[in-house]
Amino acid sequence: MHLLILNGPNLNLLGLREPEIYGKTSYGGLCDLICAHAEEAGVTVECKQSNHEGVLVDWIQEAYDNADGIVFNPGAYTHTSIALLDALKAVGIPCVEVHISDVNEREPFRQISYVGLYAEKRIIGQGLNGYLAAMDYLIEKYR
Ligand code: DQA
Repeated sequence: MHLLILNGPNLNLLGLREPEIYGKTSYGGLCDLICAHAEEAGVTVECKQSNHEGVLVDWIQEAYDNADGIVFNPGAYTHTSIALLDALKAVGIPCVEVHISDVNEREPFRQISYVGLYAEKRIIGQGLNGYLAAMDYLIEKYR
């Protein structure tokens, strides 16, 4: 089983970026946690991050016939991007949406999720553990 872990804009600044909201662990630290978890579970994993919507669309398209599941934190594009929703629908790969912070308790504009119209599960406000819980869900259901 192969999982694609996708992160959208500004998530490369984890650790630096509003640590009171997103924590002190760096993006590299997050990838280390994900890789260790994948190894333990006996699956392969690829961690990718981009600040560019079109690049994320390209990576979702490239995952067709390659990834068995996508764990996706689209960052701010969650709340705006029909293109990401359409890309996910096009490839039809099972997807879990993850948000580090509890977006439901934040500004009203964060309550909208286009990706959430496709994702079969949303894990919100569990910090970095949310990524691992999303992996576990996909592994249990699709391995
Ligand atoms: C986020 C929440 C989004 O609203 C925000 O734009 C982010 C991070 C989260 O992980 O909590 O960039 O997706």
